[in-house]
Amino acid sequence: MADKTINKYSFQMKKLISTLLTLLIFAVGSAMAQRANYQIIPLPKQVEVDQTQAFTLQNGMGVSFDASNPEILRNAQFLCQWVEQSTGVKLLTTPNDQKAAIRLIIGMDADSKSKKGKKVEEPQPLKEQQQEAYKIKVGENGISIYAHNPIGFFRAAQTLRKALPIVKQGEEAKIELPYATIQDEPRFVYRGVLLDCARHFFSVEMIKEFIDVMALHGCNQFHWHLTEDQGWRFEVKSMPELALRGSIREQTVIGPNSGIYDGIPHGGYYTQDECRDVVKYAAERYINVIPEIDLPGHMQSALHVYPELGCTGGPYPVRTYWGVSREVLCGGNPETLTFLKKVLSEVCDVFPSKIIHIGGDEVPKDRWKVCPKCQAKIKELGIKDDGKHSPENQLQSYINKEIEAFLAERGRDIIGWDEILEGGLSGKSIIMSWRGTKGGVEAAKQGHRVIMSPNVYSYIDHPQLKDVAKQPRTTGSYIVSASKVHSFEPLIPETLSDEEQDYILGSQVNLWTEHVAYPEHAFYQLLPRLGAASEVQWCRPDQKDFESFKERLPQLKKLYDLMGVPYCNGLE
Ligand code: ACM
Ligand code: ZN
Repeated sequence: MADKTINKYSFQMKKLISTLLTLLIFAVGSAMAQRANYQIIPLPKQVEVDQTQAFTLQNGMGVSFDASNPEILRNAQFLCQWVEQSTGVKLLTTPNDQKAAIRLIIGMDADSKSKKGKKVEEPQPLKEQQQEAYKIKVGENGISIYAHNPIGFFRAAQTLRKALPIVKQGEEAKIELPYATIQDEPRFVYRGVLLDCARHFFSVEMIKEFIDVMALHGCNQFHWHLTEDQGWRFEVKSMPELALRGSIREQTVIGPNSGIYDGIPHGGYYTQDECRDVVKYAAERYINVIPEIDLPGHMQSALHVYPELGCTGGPYPVRTYWGVSREVLCGGNPETLTFLKKVLSEVCDVFPSKIIHIGGDEVPKDRWKVCPKCQAKIKELGIKDDGKHSPENQLQSYINKEIEAFLAERGRDIIGWDEILEGGLSGKSIIMSWRGTKGGVEAAKQGHRVIMSPNVYSYIDHPQLKDVAKQPRTTGSYIVSASKVHSFEPLIPETLSDEEQDYILGSQVNLWTEHVAYPEHAFYQLLPRLGAASEVQWCRPDQKDFESFKERLPQLKKLYDLMGVPYCNGLE
C-alpha cells in the first residue's frame, strides 16, 4: 500500500518534472528560434493558425521557383532578401525544386488538381483583384505559396516579411513559423498614395524609398504630382526651358504665408531618364506611376517660362508662397492646347500608365471672365450659361475634352480632381474626389469611375496628433489622425446603390508638401497613417477594427525601424 502511494507520488512528480522540462525546452527553444506572427497590417483576408506546431526555417534552405519565369525569380529573390534582413536566415533560390523548404507554385489549387480522382473545375476568368490573390500554407513540409500570377508571390513575400520577427542572428539563425493557412486578396483594385514633388523637390533615391514603403503596405498606384505654381519638375525635351527655369523659385515663404521669406532658391526636376528609372523600379514592385500635369490652373511655373500663355501676359514669377493662384493658362489662346499637347505627348512617351492625371482643381476664373481671348472662345464655342455650369467652367470642360481626345489617341484615359465635374464630364474620365465624397458620389451616379480621396480622411499633410505642438509644422486646419484615416469607408453605402458602388475603384491618401521639405518629415507624415489607409484599401469592412490595428502596429514599426524610415510614434 505504502509502496503504491510512493509510486503514485513519484509518477506525479515525474509528470510534473517532465512538464516543467518541456516548458523549459520550449522557453529556451523560443529564445533561440523566434516565432513569426501573422497578425500583420493590412490584415489578410483569412488567417488560420495552429500555434501548437511550427516549421523551422533555417540558413541554407531553398526557395523554389518556376525557372522559365524571370518575374517569379525576382519575387523569390525579394523574399530571400527580406527574410535575411529581418532574421539573418540566409535562403537560396533553387529552380524547380519540389523538395525546397519554400515553394512558389503557380495556380491556386495546384495541389488539389494533381490529386487523383478530384474533380477539376473549369477555370473562371479572374476578377482584377483576384489577379493579386495568394495562398500561403505552412506545414511539416515547409511553406507552399500559391498564386495565379507572379504578383501574388510578391504579395505573399511581403506578408511573410511582415510576419517575421526582427532578430539579429548569426550562423545558427532560425525562425519558427506556426503552421498556418493564409488566403488573401485586396478589396479594391486602386490603392493609391500621392506625393507632391512640386511644392518641394524630393530626390529619386527618396522616391524609391517611398515606393518601397508603399509596396510594403500593398499599395499599387503612385500618384506623382509633378507640376505646380511653385515649381515644374518634369523635363520636356521639346521645351527644355520649362524645367530649367520653371523648376526654380527664388525663395520660399516661411510657415503658412507668414510674409517672411527664407531667401534660399529652391529647385530640382526629374529628367526623363530618371522618370523612366522610377517607373521601372515601381513596376518591379507592382506599382503603377500616374503622372499628374495639373491644368489649366496650378501652372504659374509654366507661365513664368511662357508668359504669353497667360491671360494678362505676365510677368509671372515661379510662386514663392502657398494658396491658390489666380494666374492660370489662358483658355482662349490656341497656343495653350498646343503647349499642353506637347507636354502630354512626352508624358505619354515616358509613363506607360493607362491613366494620366490632368489635375483640374482650383482654377479661379477671375482672369477668364475679363480676358478677351477667353470670352471670344466662349462665344466661338457657342457656350451659354445653362444654369448648372458657368460659361467659364464649360470652357475648362472644353479644354479637358480636347486633352481627353488627345490622350485617348494614345490609349490613355484621363483622371482629374472633382472640380472637373463642374463643367460637365465626358467619356471615360475618372474622378478623384478630394472635397469630401460628394463629387465622387455624383460621378459614380453619372457612371464615371471614382477614386475616393476626401481631405478630412485622406490628407496626410495635416497633423495626426491632437497635440499639434508635438509635431513638425504641417498644413494644420484640422487633424487627420490614424483612427480617422482608418475609419473611412470608400463605398458610401448609405448613398450609393450596389451598381453605383461598382464605380468606386478604391482610395488614396495624399501627401502635399507645402510644409514638408525633407524626406524624414515626409515619412513622418506618411507613417503610420499609411498603415491605417492600407486597411481601408485592402481589408473588408467587417475585418476593420482600430483596436486590433493598434495591437498589430508595434510589429510593423519594428520593420519601419529596420528599413530606416521615420514615423510618428503617437496615434491620436
Ligand atoms: C487639391 O487638394 N487641391 C486637390
Ligand atoms: Zn484668357
